[in-house]
Amino acid sequence: MEKKLIFVCQNVDCRVRQAAEVMEKLQQEAGPDERMEVRSYMCFGACHEGPNVVVYPDKVWYAGVKPEDVAEIIASLRGGQPPGHPSTLERLDTIDPGLKAMIFQLLDAGLY
Ligand code: FES
Repeated sequence: MEKKLIFVCQNVDCRVRQAAEVMEKLQQEAGPDERMEVRSYMCFGACHEGPNVVVYPDKVWYAGVKPEDVAEIIASLRGGQPPGHPSTLERLDTIDPGLKAMIFQLLDAGLY
């Protein structure tokens, strides 16, 4: 199974919306798990919709992530049933498809 890379934007606009706290919580919740790795990212270009978290190679983009969303995100990445409805995936999937496609192309090209 390919390792999931969980990219967390750490640029200014995302940071003023708690991106550092989101990243720290993701690292705590993921723990030592060879199936996933949390990494910082410079900017996804959706600065006013952050904090932005992109999971690769899944090509899932969570926008407006709050620290309290993190447990649900990690649970869904582990294949568990995410608690609560609508799911985190649906609620945090707000980014324009064109921008998502562009960022996923960059990641496919290995630009991270
Ligand atoms: S500052 Fe986070 S997407 Fe640009």
